[in-house]
Amino acid sequence: FKNSFTINTSYDHYEYPYYYHKCDTGYSKTTTWEIGGDCCSWAGVTCHPISGHVTQLDLSCSGLVGNIHSNSTLFHLSHLHSLNLAFNHFNHSHLSSLFGGFVSLTHLNLSSSDFEGDIPSQISHLSKLVSLDLSYNMLKWKEDTWKRLLQNATVLRVLLLDETDMSSTSIRTLNMSSSLVTLSLRWTWLRGKLTDGILCLPNLQHLDLAYNWDIQGQLPKVSCSTASLGFLDLSGCGLQGSIPPSFSNLTLLTSLDLSSNHLNGSIPSSLLILPRLTFLNLNNNQLSGQIPDVFHQSNNFHELDLSNNKIEAELPSTLSNLQHLILLDLSHNKFIGQIPDVFARLNKLNTLYLGGNNFGGQIPSSLFGLTQLSELDCSNNKLEGPLPNNITGFSSLTWLRLYGNLLNGTIPSWCLSLPSLTTLDLSGNQFTGLPVHLSTISSYSLGILYLSYNKLQGNIPESIFSLVNLTLLDLSSNNFSGSVHFRLFSKLQILENLDLSQNDQLSLNFKSNVNYSFSSLRSLDLSSMDLTEFPKLSGKVPNLMFIYLSNNKLKGRVPNWLNETRSWLHELDLSHNLLTQSWDQFSWNQRLNYLDLSFNSITVLDLQLNKLHGTLPSTFPKDCGLRTLDLNGNQLLEGFLPESLSNCIDLEVLDLGNNQIKDVFPHWLQTLQYLEVLVLRANKLYGPIACLKTKHGFPSLVIFYVSSNNFSGPIPKAYIKKFEAMKNVVLDAYSQYMEVYIHLGLKL
Ligand SMILES: *[C@@H]1O[C@H](CO)[C@@H](O)[C@H](O)[C@H]1NC(C)=O
Ligand SMILES: *[C@@H]1O[C@H](CO)[C@@H](O)[C@H](O)[C@H]1NC(C)=O
Ligand SMILES: *[C@@H]1O[C@H](CO)[C@@H](O)[C@H](O)[C@H]1NC(C)=O
Ligand SMILES: *[C@@H]1O[C@H](CO)[C@@H](O)[C@H](O)[C@H]1NC(C)=O
Ligand SMILES: *[C@@H]1O[C@H](CO)[C@@H](O)[C@H](O)[C@H]1NC(C)=O
Ligand SMILES: *[C@@H]1O[C@H](CO)[C@@H](O)[C@H](O)[C@H]1NC(C)=O
Ligand SMILES: *[C@@H]1O[C@H](CO)[C@@H](O)[C@H](O)[C@H]1NC(C)=O
Ligand SMILES: *[C@@H]1O[C@H](CO)[C@@H](O)[C@H](O)[C@H]1NC(C)=O
Ligand SMILES: *[C@@H]1O[C@H](CO)[C@@H](O)[C@H](O)[C@H]1NC(C)=O
Ligand SMILES: *[C@@H]1O[C@H](CO)[C@@H](O)[C@H](O)[C@H]1NC(C)=O
Ligand SMILES: *[C@@H]1O[C@H](CO)[C@@H](O)[C@H](O)[C@H]1NC(C)=O
Ligand SMILES: *[C@@H]1O[C@H](CO)[C@@H](O)[C@H](O)[C@H]1NC(C)=O
Repeated sequence: FKNSFTINTSYDHYEYPYYYHKCDTGYSKTTTWEIGGDCCSWAGVTCHPISGHVTQLDLSCSGLVGNIHSNSTLFHLSHLHSLNLAFNHFNHSHLSSLFGGFVSLTHLNLSSSDFEGDIPSQISHLSKLVSLDLSYNMLKWKEDTWKRLLQNATVLRVLLLDETDMSSTSIRTLNMSSSLVTLSLRWTWLRGKLTDGILCLPNLQHLDLAYNWDIQGQLPKVSCSTASLGFLDLSGCGLQGSIPPSFSNLTLLTSLDLSSNHLNGSIPSSLLILPRLTFLNLNNNQLSGQIPDVFHQSNNFHELDLSNNKIEAELPSTLSNLQHLILLDLSHNKFIGQIPDVFARLNKLNTLYLGGNNFGGQIPSSLFGLTQLSELDCSNNKLEGPLPNNITGFSSLTWLRLYGNLLNGTIPSWCLSLPSLTTLDLSGNQFTGLPVHLSTISSYSLGILYLSYNKLQGNIPESIFSLVNLTLLDLSSNNFSGSVHFRLFSKLQILENLDLSQNDQLSLNFKSNVNYSFSSLRSLDLSSMDLTEFPKLSGKVPNLMFIYLSNNKLKGRVPNWLNETRSWLHELDLSHNLLTQSWDQFSWNQRLNYLDLSFNSITVLDLQLNKLHGTLPSTFPKDCGLRTLDLNGNQLLEGFLPESLSNCIDLEVLDLGNNQIKDVFPHWLQTLQYLEVLVLRANKLYGPIACLKTKHGFPSLVIFYVSSNNFSGPIPKAYIKKFEAMKNVVLDAYSQYMEVYIHLGLKL
C-alpha cells in the first residue's frame, strides 16, 4: 500500500472558499512502516486487541500522492471501523465502489484528498456510519444514492460534505435523517426551498448551508418550539423577504449568520432577545427600519454585525448594556444623529465599525476610554469638532480610520504616539495648524499614514522619516511648505506609495550625486509641487508602477531611470511640464497602459511596443510640433486615422504598424513635406491605395511599409515610379494584397 504512493508532505490543501489548510505534521506516518515489524505498532494503525484485525487506519495529513485503484490492498482491511485518509493527494482518483464494502465503518473521513467523480451507490451500504466527512473533494452525489444513505445510516450524527456537488439533490431530502447532530453543506449547489422541517430536526445542533445560491425563496416560519439548533449559517443563499418573528422559536440559537442574502423588512425584536444568541451577522442584506430598542433584555452578544443594510434613525442608548461585545459593525447603513455615549462599560470591545452613515456631532468621549479596542472606523460620516487632546484608552488600537468627516482643530499628539497603531487615516477632514507636535511621532508600528486633504501647514516633520515600517505615506492636498531632502524618504526602505502632490509650497531637494534607494516603491505622486528636476532614482526602483509628476516645471529630457522600471510601469503622468525630447525609453514597455504627456513641447514620441489601446487622439493641434510618432506594436490601437495628423507639418516618421486601425489609405498625409517614413503595416486598412493628387505628394518619403492590410487594387503607377527612383527598393506584390518592402539600410 505504501509503495503505491509517493510521499510529499509539503502539499497545500485548498479549502474553498477561505483558506489553505497546511498539514503541520511535516512527516508522513508511513515513514514508520517497516516490513518485519508488527503492523499494529505502525503510526496510524490500530488493531483489535484479540483478533489482531486492523480496525482503525488514520493516515490523515500523510503526504500520500498517487491514485487509489480498486486493486489497492486498502480494501483487504474488511474489519475497519474507522478510516481517515483526509488531507492527502489521491490525484483525481474515483471513489471506488469497494468503499461500500467497509460495512463495519463508523467513521469515514476523506476530506480534502483530491477524490473526484460520482459517489458510488454502494456508499449507502455503510449503515453503521456515525461520522462521514467527504468535504472539499470534487465528488458528485446522485439523488438516489444520497437518499438511500440517509435512510440506511440511521445513527449518522456528523455529516460534512462542504464543496461536494449536490446539484442534483433537493434540499427537501435533508429532513430525512433525524439522527443528525452536525450537518455542513457549504457550497454544494443544493437547490430547492428551505423548510422548517430541516430547522426543526430533533437532534440537529449545527447546520451550515452557506453559499448555496440556489436555495433562494423565503425563510420558513419556525413552528416547532423544541428545536435543538444552536448554530445556523445561511449566508450567501439568495434568500428573500423578511426574517420571520417565529425564528425566536429557535430558543437554543447561539450563532446565526444570515449575511449576504436579499432579506428585507425590519429586524424582529424577538430575534434580538433570543436568550443565548451571542453571534448575529445580518451584513449585506436590504434590512430597513430601526434597531429595536431591546438590549436591556438581552446582553449576551459577542459579535453583532448589521452592516451594509438600510437601517435608519438613531442608535438606541440601550447598546450600553452589551457588555460582552467584542465586535460591533453598523457601517454602511443610514443611521443619523449623534453616536450615543454608550461605550463606558463595553470594555471588551475590540472592533467598532460605524463608517458610511450619517452620524453627526462629536465623537462621544466614552469611546476614547476603551482600552481593548483594536480597530475603530468612523469614516464617511458628518462627525465634527476637534478630537480630544487627552485620552485614557486606545492603548491597543491598531487601526484608526476617521477619513471623510468634518473634524477640525489640530491633530492631537496621542494620534501619532499610539504604541500599536499600524493604520491611521485622517484624510478628508479639516484639520489645520502647524504640525509642530507631529515632531513627536512615535507610533513606530505605523505602516499606512493618510493625512491628505486637510489644511495642514508648515514643514513635514522629520520624525516621519523614522517610521521605518511605513508602506504608504499620503500627505497630498495640504499646505505643507519648506524644503525636504528627498534622500530622507529613502530611509523608509519598504515604502510602496508616496504621495506629496498638491502641496505647492513644498519643495523637494534632490542631490544629484546620491542614488536614492526605493526598492519597494510602487507609486510615486509628486505632482503640483513646482519640481524643477526629476527625482534621481537610478537603478533602485524595480517595482515602480505608477508615476505622477504632472504640473511641475520639469524640463529637457526624461532621465534614464525610467529604463529601470520599464517592465513594470503601468501609468505615467508627465503632463503640464516643460519637456522637449527623447522618449525612446518608453518603447518596448509591455505594460504601460496610461500615459499623459499633454501640455509639453515634445517633438519625438516613441511609444512602440506598449499596450496602449483605444483610438488615436482625433485632434492634433495646428501647431503640433511632432517629428516622430511611433506607436508600432501596441496591437490594440483601433479606430480611424485622424486627418488632423496633417497638422504636424514637421512630421518625419510616422509608424503605426501592428495595430488594429481600420480606415482607408491616409492620402491626406501626402502634403507632409518632411515625411520620410510611413509604416502602416499589419492593420485593418482597406480599399485602394489612393492615387496621388499631385506628383509632388510624399516628397521626402523613403520608407513605405503597408503590407498585411486589406488593401485592394494595384499599386498606383505614380508610387512605383517613385520607388523605382529610389535605391534598394524591393517590390513584392501578390494577388490583390500588396507587400512592399523598401530597404534603404535604415533600421525599422
Ligand atoms: C511537493 O508539493 C509541493 C507543493 O505542491 C511542490 O512544490 C513540490 O515540488 C513537491 N515536491 C515533490 C518532491 O514532488
Ligand atoms: C496522476 O494521474 C495521472 C493520470 O490520471 C497520471 O498520469 C499521473 O502520473 C498521476 N500522478 C501521480 C503522482 O500518481
Ligand atoms: C492497479 O490498477 C491500476 C489501474 O487499473 C494499474 O495501473 C495498476 O498497475 C494495478 N496495480 C496492481 C498492483 O495490480
Ligand atoms: C477529518 O480529518 C481532518 C484531518 O484530520 C479533520 O480536520 C476533520 O475534522 C475530520 N473530520 C471529522 C468529521 O472528524
Ligand atoms: C443498507 O445497509 C445494509 C447493510 O450494510 C445493506 O445490506 C443494504 O444493501 C443497504 N441498503 C441500501 C438501500 O443501500
Ligand atoms: C420531509 O419534508 C417533506 C415535505 O417537505 C414531507 O412530506 C416529509 O414527510 C418530511 N419527512 C420527514 C421525515 O420529516
Ligand atoms: C413557535 O412555534 C409554535 C408552534 O410550536 C407556534 O404556535 C408559535 O407561533 C411559534 N412562535 C412564533 C413567535 O411564531
Ligand atoms: C421585500 O422583498 C419582496 C420581494 O423579494 C417584496 O415583495 C416585498 O414588498 C419587500 N418588502 C419590503 C418591506 O420591502
Ligand atoms: C493631559 O493629562 C495629563 C495628566 O492626566 C496632564 O498632565 C496634561 O496637562 C493634560 N494635557 C492636556 C493638553 O490637557
Ligand atoms: C470646528 O468646527 C466647529 C463647527 O463644527 C466650529 O464651531 C469650531 O469653531 C471649529 N473649530 C476650529 C478650531 O476651527
Ligand atoms: C515593523 O514590522 C516588522 C515586521 O512586520 C515587525 O516585526 C516590527 O515589530 C515592526 N516595528 C515596529 C516598531 O512596530
Ligand atoms: C498656506 O500656508 C501659507 C504659509 O505657509 C499661508 O500663507 C497660506 O495662506 C496657506 N494657504 C492656505 C490655503 O491655507
